[in-house]
Amino acid sequence: MLRTHTCGELRADNIAQEVVLCGWVKKTRDKGKLLWIDLRDRYGITQLFLEEGVSDNNLFEQARELGREFVIKAKGTVVERASKNPELPTGDIEVRLTQIEVLNAAKTPPFIIEDETDGGDELRAQYRYLDLRRNPLKDKLIMRHNLAKEVRNYLDKQAFVEVETPVLIKSTPEGARDFVVPSRMHPGEFYALPQSPQTFKQILMVGGMDKYFQIVKCFRDEDLRADRQPEFTQIDCEMAFVEREDILQTFEGLVKHLFKTVKNIELPDFQRMSYDEAMEKYGSDKPDLRFGMPFVKLNEIVQNKDFKVFDVAELVVGIVAEGAASYSRKQLDALTNFVQKPQVGAKGLVYVKCNEDGTFKSSVDKFYSQEDLSEWAKLMNAQAGDLILVLAGETNSTRKALSELRLEMASQLNLKDKDIFAPLWVLDFPLLEWDEETQRYYAMHHPFTSPNPEDIDKMETDPSAVRANAYDMVINGVELGGGSIRIHDKALQQRVLRLLGFSDEEAKSQFGFLMNAFEYGAPPHGGIAFGFDRMCAMFAGVDSIRDCIAFPKNNAGRDVMIDSPSIIGLEQLEELALRLEIAK
Ligand code: AMO
Repeated sequence: MLRTHTCGELRADNIAQEVVLCGWVKKTRDKGKLLWIDLRDRYGITQLFLEEGVSDNNLFEQARELGREFVIKAKGTVVERASKNPELPTGDIEVRLTQIEVLNAAKTPPFIIEDETDGGDELRAQYRYLDLRRNPLKDKLIMRHNLAKEVRNYLDKQAFVEVETPVLIKSTPEGARDFVVPSRMHPGEFYALPQSPQTFKQILMVGGMDKYFQIVKCFRDEDLRADRQPEFTQIDCEMAFVEREDILQTFEGLVKHLFKTVKNIELPDFQRMSYDEAMEKYGSDKPDLRFGMPFVKLNEIVQNKDFKVFDVAELVVGIVAEGAASYSRKQLDALTNFVQKPQVGAKGLVYVKCNEDGTFKSSVDKFYSQEDLSEWAKLMNAQAGDLILVLAGETNSTRKALSELRLEMASQLNLKDKDIFAPLWVLDFPLLEWDEETQRYYAMHHPFTSPNPEDIDKMETDPSAVRANAYDMVINGVELGGGSIRIHDKALQQRVLRLLGFSDEEAKSQFGFLMNAFEYGAPPHGGIAFGFDRMCAMFAGVDSIRDCIAFPKNNAGRDVMIDSPSIIGLEQLEELALRLEIAK
């Protein structure tokens, strides 16, 4: 070892010891007779100093040459600090230098390497290695490591086996586009990178592995968002001989264990809610339950009062924003603009202010009397001082818009407390989703999800009414994970694939390997996968998963540090039999 201690280690107990530290020069302060250097490494910062009359003159000269981020090895004696720094774990001591060795010089960094930096996103991404020296990023990576370690601890104790599955595979349909890799040995043929190890983990169950997990990279060529990266990590799990309840218990246990061991937080038992209830009450399959504001359907009391907008609406539905009756005209106009944004898609917004004096002021006073509005307030349990917000229209789109408005109001009223965690299981998702554009059904989770046994009869007659044995884990409005009990019977798998529009030939060519495996003793099985990056972001209290990934892609899917994706040479293209295709 080049060093005797790290820069975060020395305390008053070490006073009088000879030490050697290595690290990066965070800054130097030169007061002529005294000179200080803050030396940084992963573990912390230690103050080094030189004193005229005591320290060698050459050392002063050497120290004055040091630039920011030079890598040095420093030898000296630990002494008590005259003015202690209680902010720093090493703040009781400093090191009187006797020797400095420059291990490597450094150019002046393009941004300040401090907790608060002046570097923009793009610049920091380009110099990720410099950004990684900053505490906010470094601490998140260490936390990520701790989470992964505790995932392995918990699952190992429960007899799960970590098995690696291949990365060069064939397309698995999980709803996104595949990244493909051309095969040199088989010109014109391609591997696909896994969107998840779904089929492999099921085959491991047929292989008798019984309890599998893997912390694994997955690849999806989809549009990027704060919570989406083209390559991301899952905690992927599967168990044999289980029912839904076993999975829910096991993985609720895992998440409770992680919160306890990594954050010292005891999570309550998870709430449970059906998909239908979540959509009805919150207009979302991942409701944020840190706050209330449930939807209240108003059709019965608001229709047939000559207000055309409500009369023709399939759904009239509202929420109560507590204490927001004081909203100004301007704030209400801003809310109307918010719901009319194309991403939200409502036509307009009706409000009712429940005034402190018991009267009501609404945007539809022309159509509704004080008695009418009082009835709304009663049904919605709105109190004096509250603001009622109502949207109307086609059921699904109105729910979606009101869900956005509910989240917006929660932000405006400061209800999204980062220190509160409200975990939830959403159960009984529909098996299928109808797509207007392509005029066909898609699997809401994936094609290997088992239909609810009670609904199997309806598969051909009323496909959209069939519930799936699928579940999502949601915390604070974030879909942390999802899974299902699987089909393990070839005939049922074929039936579902038929519903999804696969001919028997297509089904055989794409999933023949799985259906063949089902003919050789497939046990009942099920599982779940968690978004590990999302979990890290939640634990770190940040919105973007990029902050918890060492080398993420930017918004345009590029790694600007290594400059990828990039063009490859003609020779390489030719070798991969790609040249002709590209020329076309
Ligand atoms: P699903 O597609 O729901 O299920 O993915 C599981 C979890 O992975 C996370 N996730 C992502 N995280 C970051 N970037 C992305 N692009 C991204 N896409 C998904 C989410 C999600 O809940 N094979 C099934 C699981 C199973 O059935 O066992 C699957 O992959 O947190």
